[in-house]
Amino acid sequence: MKYDTNQLEINKVQKSKIEEVNFDNLVFGEIFTDHMFECDYDNGQWQTPKIRPYGSIEMDPSAKVFHYGQAVFEGMKAYKDEDDQIWLFRPEENFKRINKSSARLAIPEFPKEFFFSGLEELLKLDKAWIKKGFGNSLYIRPFVIATEEGVSANPSTKYKFMIICSPAQAYYSGEVRVQFSEKYSRAANGGVGAAKAAGNYAAQFYPTNLAKEAGFQQIIWTDANTHEFLEEAGTMNIFFRIGDKLITAPTSDRILDGVTRKSVIDLAKDLNIEVEIRKVKVSEIVEAARNGELKEIFGSGTATVINPISGFGYKDEKFELPELEDSYGKSFKDQLMKIQYNQAEDRHGWRYLIK
Ligand code: COI
Repeated sequence: MKYDTNQLEINKVQKSKIEEVNFDNLVFGEIFTDHMFECDYDNGQWQTPKIRPYGSIEMDPSAKVFHYGQAVFEGMKAYKDEDDQIWLFRPEENFKRINKSSARLAIPEFPKEFFFSGLEELLKLDKAWIKKGFGNSLYIRPFVIATEEGVSANPSTKYKFMIICSPAQAYYSGEVRVQFSEKYSRAANGGVGAAKAAGNYAAQFYPTNLAKEAGFQQIIWTDANTHEFLEEAGTMNIFFRIGDKLITAPTSDRILDGVTRKSVIDLAKDLNIEVEIRKVKVSEIVEAARNGELKEIFGSGTATVINPISGFGYKDEKFELPELEDSYGKSFKDQLMKIQYNQAEDRHGWRYLIK
């Protein structure tokens, strides 16, 4: 079916609330821009997409999303360069992934025409919310929820696709120490680990609270069968540097195919850094930390970009990692951000201009 992008209905705010916002002191994901995008699925098709003032939505308490968690989301960012141009980073990847996640949760695909026309119009309307300067961005959260009324455990016949946007600075502030999971699991073979399913995140909250009580900010999840292999951190994919070699786990139906992750792998290859994409044994990382060969661990993700890990815990032991002068993580972060903010050549064609 062909969807007509001219269909987009736009209802603008009477008065922007931007003046009430302190852009120097933003907590991640707490403030939202003036407008949002909304499109309903009903009668077997996506209806007229709309942009309207940001605000509450009304739903029946029996809506399936509340009972069965039929919901998926994406994370993207928009950046403003010194000439006030707005850029996205590899948005096609997020578009493909939200539909892949949707397919896994029996949610109908969202049309590409609607996604891009809606997102671009939204960004143009809320352009003033994207501040210039390295580290400032607009975090974009597309998501789909099942809105059909009724608690029978079947896929919904009604959905709402939305995009909301939040001005952002850093995701994690301060040092991040991680715990290698010994007991709890995030994903299993044949499950939904590779999807950005809302429930994947809810399921991490309890074990992460336990890890926080033990002095860590995040968990690195290990495989559900043996807990012998390191997989991902839930909000980030994870890279290990042993000597000068970079190692990261392969994507699978348990591990999210992160856009930042694959960009880091490409940048590493450009720099002739050896990258091994293979299963990562907990024991080899512990061993490398003991004998001083483990140089760094860092996480990659849209919200955080690259996040250095300053230490990790496994069983009853804690390991600290040195701060490196020649950190790969820092260098990838710098290169990625320069591409994102239109300050460096975009060899891979990752930037996407909002016209
Ligand atoms: C992102 O990086 O966009 C994520 O999905 C992490 C999120 C849970 C804040």
